[in-house]
Amino acid sequence: MTSGSGVYIHWPFCLAKCPYCDFNSHVHDSIDHDVWQERYLRSIDHYAALLPGRRISSIYFGGGTPSLMKPQTVAAVIDRIQQKWQVTNDIEITLEANPTSVEADKFQEFKAAGVNRVSLGVQALNDNDLKFLGRQHNVKEALKAIDIAKESFDRYSFDLIYARPNQSLKDWQQELEKALQYADGHLSLYQLTIERGTAFYQDYARKKFSIPGQDLAADFYNLTQDILQAHGLPAYEVSNHAKEGQESRHNLIYWNYGDYIGIGPGAHGRITMEGKKFATREHRAPEIWLERVGEHGHGAHPFEEVPAGDQFMEGLMMGLRLRRGISLTGLAENWRDYIDEDHLKEAVAQGWLAHENDNNLRPSREGVLRLNALIPYLLRSQADQAA
Ligand SMILES: C[S@@+](CC[C@H](N)C(=O)[O-])C[C@H]1O[C@@H](n2cnc3c(N)ncnc32)[C@H](O)[C@@H]1O
Ligand code: SF4
Repeated sequence: MTSGSGVYIHWPFCLAKCPYCDFNSHVHDSIDHDVWQERYLRSIDHYAALLPGRRISSIYFGGGTPSLMKPQTVAAVIDRIQQKWQVTNDIEITLEANPTSVEADKFQEFKAAGVNRVSLGVQALNDNDLKFLGRQHNVKEALKAIDIAKESFDRYSFDLIYARPNQSLKDWQQELEKALQYADGHLSLYQLTIERGTAFYQDYARKKFSIPGQDLAADFYNLTQDILQAHGLPAYEVSNHAKEGQESRHNLIYWNYGDYIGIGPGAHGRITMEGKKFATREHRAPEIWLERVGEHGHGAHPFEEVPAGDQFMEGLMMGLRLRRGISLTGLAENWRDYIDEDHLKEAVAQGWLAHENDNNLRPSREGVLRLNALIPYLLRSQADQAA
């Protein structure tokens, strides 16, 4: 696998807002595509001047719904990145797409623009649940879009959301088996989460629906792992499954705590400059981002240097999402300054983690279910770290 930096491009618009979604996505009546294209290109120029000589191994168009972008905008962004930086021969160029017919009809044009992988937001293979999730497509359209993706691109993946209200384990098993007939090398399977600020958050608080409790949610998770493993697509990350070699290289950059440049409203980045790691964050509101790029040539807030302790924490949080785990010395030679070794031993004794060769740290399936609690448990307190 080639290593290099990633470029993330955020397109912040959708046809409708899904009730579960807290991504930076907006519904606008009119979008001036020419202006958006010009601002993306200017932002690329800005980062290229700041980070000359980078090797780019992945470009990811995320959203929002980037399949609503004009193919010529996607082409212009890819061309500009190729002009400004060196790109690897096997660069992965992914576009997130919603499976409505209008968008699937554009797949050939996205391919011509340079996209070589799509990630489709199928979400469910059940029409009632697609309605509940506020989606703009039905099962028939989703399956058709998968077929078109298969014909159009070297690689495709699709997303499903499970542990939905009223979904039984049996329902999910059947749905998953159907999904596997349509899958290629990669699937993303997310448990429904109720996010603050979404329509579902209010509905859930008002008890309009319920979702599985912790034990049933764990059963859903385990069932998912078993089925996918049996079909040759084991989890390589908490919610992502792939045949060997078909992992999302872009997401692996995040989970390996590599460098990525985030462009577009609300996009985040992590970039290393002169041996220091910086966190970058772009203005979140689409209009403000557009205006800032117009005025200053970029839409970024001032970069913030990430202190060594925070780098360790972020690297650990990202790396323990991976089933193959991480090298502690790869994160920091002085990893013992950050890790509470008694807690580490306890986590190993509980079977949540494997700690091999005094270096590699790998979560078990049980450990993955507890990651949110496990990370703070493993880290020494800030006061200890400073002592
Ligand atoms: C940026 S979103 C999707 C992009 C694309 N617009 C779409 O809807 O397909 C990435 C994925 O996160 C998942 N997702 C978003 N919100 C979620 C939630 N509250 N619970 C579970 N999965 C969620 C969905 O599967 C979605 O496809
Ligand atoms: S789930 Fe996708 S389509 Fe729905 S609002 Fe979020 S980003 Fe937009």
